Amino acid sequence: MPGEVTARGERYGRLVGADLVIASNRGPLSFSLDGDGRPVPAGSAGGLAAALHPQLEGSGATWVACAMSDADRRATAEGLMTERGLRLLTVQPDEDTYRMAYDVVSNATLWFLHHHLFDLARRPRFDHRWFRAWDAYRDLNRLFATVVDGAAAEGATVLVQDYHLCLVPALLAAKRPDLRVVHFTHTPFAGPDALAVLPTAVARELLEGMAAATAVGFHTARWEAAFRACCGALGVDVGHSFVSPLTPDAEQLLERAASAACASAGERLEEVLGGRRLVVRVDRMEPAKNLLRGFWAVDELLRARPDLRGEMVLLALAYPSRQTLPEYLAYAAEVEETVRRVNDAWATDDWAPIVLDVADDPGRSVAALVRYDVLLVNPLRDGLNLVAKEGPLVNAHDGVLALSREAGAFAELGGEALEVNPFDVTGTAAVLAEALDMAPGERRRRAGALRALAARRQPGEWLADQLAAVLRA
Ligand code: F6P
Repeated sequence: MPGEVTARGERYGRLVGADLVIASNRGPLSFSLDGDGRPVPAGSAGGLAAALHPQLEGSGATWVACAMSDADRRATAEGLMTERGLRLLTVQPDEDTYRMAYDVVSNATLWFLHHHLFDLARRPRFDHRWFRAWDAYRDLNRLFATVVDGAAAEGATVLVQDYHLCLVPALLAAKRPDLRVVHFTHTPFAGPDALAVLPTAVARELLEGMAAATAVGFHTARWEAAFRACCGALGVDVGHSFVSPLTPDAEQLLERAASAACASAGERLEEVLGGRRLVVRVDRMEPAKNLLRGFWAVDELLRARPDLRGEMVLLALAYPSRQTLPEYLAYAAEVEETVRRVNDAWATDDWAPIVLDVADDPGRSVAALVRYDVLLVNPLRDGLNLVAKEGPLVNAHDGVLALSREAGAFAELGGEALEVNPFDVTGTAAVLAEALDMAPGERRRRAGALRALAARRQPGEWLADQLAAVLRA
């Protein structure tokens, strides 16, 4: 109900209300189909939808998001896509348009581009099929712009999220010059050399689409500079840009950590561990998260350090992601095979060095974050990485953070984390050894310092920064 403010909405203050519209591909609610084909709430949304939801709950704002699946479409038809204190509007592209826009352009092209994931000898291939998908991406952006246009009051502020919706600011600027529009990117941003892989007209349309916003935001100065350099290289006029890293809601995390579900997940975890040291990673099953080199590093660690055999466990929680993409299915298969190989090399009757769990179970993830001795966050490239902040906020074991210097969060936490070069397997093994060997006093000092760094910004500040950016611009 617009204007109504729930307890959590109060916590963030009345920053927002009926004159705010959010547009994102993934919305705050998602559904799957149960055995009888009925839509039921699905598991964790991950990333931006999960982080923004508590900030907007009860605010009276409008959130425009896509029906991403048949279950979402059915839930919308049955009136289940609703939430008290938020006006949820669903964009409903036809299945083909959505698959081409989301799978081919957003994920297999733009995600790969910004994360430097292309295997350039083969991909990308900009052929007639790809250009049909590009038309679908444009259509999807137009659908979003139409729904936002219908929903936004005169002079409203519109917060457009991420690489799925790069063209929306330009479309809105043409239709609704009264609106104040922010485009925020949650991924890294490719520099000019990487961007040059795209057909020039496509790169220009994407940059002009974003630059038409009143302000353009990023998680770190590094990604902002890359965007500005790309605009400079193609002669695209860019106005106001800003940097504003997201922060997890520590209070909500600690509530979860204190829940019964988390306590019983913690007990199950202790049974698996049997008193051994615990290295944890929590990711989507995603090539950019660099799970493979994490496992190869464990193999190297055990080769170099016989004293650690039988003494440590890497718990890898990797929930499924983007399973309509062959690259993701192949990566998941390679991950499973690699874990099998490392375990075959080192396991004993009562111990395996790696436990891979692909269930989507948020209670278990929080329990692992509370318990870790070492948190391994080694993405190849990452816009921010919220897990790197969530871990230090809830961990109760003076855990050490081993953090990739290619994650946006490194700009905030790097001083107290152990730095990982994500490409260097031997180096990652050495960092894991250093973390496991660290003296208790130093662990405690670093854990306290990391907690303070992760809590330095309040979760509501991200939203306040968006609103401040349009005012400044
Ligand atoms: O910015 C990255 C993002 O859009 C975040 O929401 C999250 O990290 C991830 O990608 C989720 O991807 P998807 O919505 O495709 O599952």
